[in-house]
Amino acid sequence: MTAKLNILVINGPNLNMLGKREPEIYGAQTLAEIMQELVTYAGSLNLSVSHFQSNSEAELINKIHSAFGQVDHIIINPAAYTHTSVALRDALLSVAIPFTEVHLSNVHKREPFRHHSYFSDVAQAVLCGFGAHGYKMAINAIAHSVQDTH
Ligand code: DQA
Repeated sequence: MTAKLNILVINGPNLNMLGKREPEIYGAQTLAEIMQELVTYAGSLNLSVSHFQSNSEAELINKIHSAFGQVDHIIINPAAYTHTSVALRDALLSVAIPFTEVHLSNVHKREPFRHHSYFSDVAQAVLCGFGAHGYKMAINAIAHSVQDTH
C-alpha cells in the first residue's frame, strides 16, 4: 500500500463566520462542521487531512511556507484574498505544492470584482458553486488522480 497523502486545507478570511455569514450564499453549516465531515471523508479514501483558517494574510502565507516538503496537495479557499492577494499566490508558487482552488459560491455569477482570481491560472483545478460539497469533490478527485497515476 502506498503512503497516505497529506492534504492541507486552507480557508481564508471570514470563513470562520460560516453558518452565520450570508447563509443564502454560503450555506448553514459552520466551518468546524464542514471540516469535521471532510476529515472523516478523506480518511475513508485513505487521505490524511489537516486544516487551517485565518483572517490574516501573513498567517496564511506562513502556513503555506510551513507546508514546504510536508504536504502533497493544498486545497485552498482564499476567500476575499482570491481577488486581491499577489502575496498569497506567490506563497503557493514558492512552495511548489500543487493546489486546488475551491469556492463555496459561483463567483462568476456574482459581482464583477469576484470574477478575477489571482490563483486560477496557477491552480491544478478550480471548483466553485457546489457549496461545501466542493471540498469533498476536491478530495475525491485527488484520491482518484493518485490511483490513476500509480
Ligand atoms: C468565496 C468567494 C469570495 O468572493 C468571497 O470573498 C468569500 C468566499 C466563496 O467561497 O464563495 O469570502 O471564496
